[in-house]
Amino acid sequence: MINRKVYIYGIMPKIWGIMDRNLALDFVRATEAAAISSALWMGKGKEKEADHAAVEAMRKAFNIIDIDGTIVIGEGERDEAPMLYIGEKVGTGKGLKLDIAVDPLEGTTITARGDPNAMSVFAAAPAQGLLNAPDTYMDKIAVGPKCVGAIDLDATVEHNLKAVAECLDKPIDEVTAIILDRDRHKDTIEKIRKCGSRIRLIRDGDIAGALAPAIDDSGIDILFGIGGAPEGVIAAVALQCLGGEIQGRLKPRNTEEIERAKKMGISDINKKLIMRDLVKSDEAMFSATGVTDGTILRGVRFVSHGARTHSIVMRAKTKTVRFIEARHVFEHFPDY
Ligand code: FBP
Repeated sequence: MINRKVYIYGIMPKIWGIMDRNLALDFVRATEAAAISSALWMGKGKEKEADHAAVEAMRKAFNIIDIDGTIVIGEGERDEAPMLYIGEKVGTGKGLKLDIAVDPLEGTTITARGDPNAMSVFAAAPAQGLLNAPDTYMDKIAVGPKCVGAIDLDATVEHNLKAVAECLDKPIDEVTAIILDRDRHKDTIEKIRKCGSRIRLIRDGDIAGALAPAIDDSGIDILFGIGGAPEGVIAAVALQCLGGEIQGRLKPRNTEEIERAKKMGISDINKKLIMRDLVKSDEAMFSATGVTDGTILRGVRFVSHGARTHSIVMRAKTKTVRFIEARHVFEHFPDY
């Protein structure tokens, strides 16, 4: 039996590591603020307004977090984005030096349409702990803990589906793959169908798609397909916390994107990126708050004078996964 005193005062401080566990709550506040602000735009057909609301709310939330953070994945280059641009310093500057990756609104189109699975997302690791991914595409494959080590981005779709079926101890026609509904995936979708496996096609939101295989009862076993590279890094942090796996390879669309990747320190564009390339630290943290209802998180609910949010917050070091349901009273909602 665990001696509670030793556990609490002895072991725990060591495994808390360098990233203070209390930061997790600060990070959740940032995704909650962004989710509430953008959820007001749900279904109103205004992508830009929804995104801007999320970015502004998250940026403000950073002002009171005691970190010396640098945005490594955010809203784009400095000249393209006024806030949360790559290289921007965030936090009070007093605490730890952290790499910060954010997607204040993952699923702008989803939100504008009122479709499922939009969320506000945040990941952090000690400085130099995250791959500085350029804003290009990435070919991805992701699975949950039971299938770690069994998949290979370079193997055939059939090989990967068979491997997942074996790890999950079920026939291949019961394996469910998730993939973005895009023309570029026609061939992969055909191959999955040829194997007899089930498919969930999603309109947007492949961070939620990559996390799903690692979440009990999501009904998803594997993610295939090409999505955003920044989303791939953020998903890798989440999967590190959940004990899952993602592999990726950059898919730049033109020479400009290749040059940008090189400038960001990626010399081998064709390298197969494994977990250690995407997240270089065991101390990473991840937080997400649902904007619209999804596989993992419920969306924001507006109630009399306030809102309810549903978030997940996780730490890679301890593998702690917390679901946080919060009630916010607008009268007391911080204006950071
Ligand atoms: P946004 O939040 O920027 O709208 O991204 C949504 C998304 O679906 C991502 O989840 C995914 O990685 C990417 O877009 C796919 O890009 P594209 O829409 O160009 O296929």
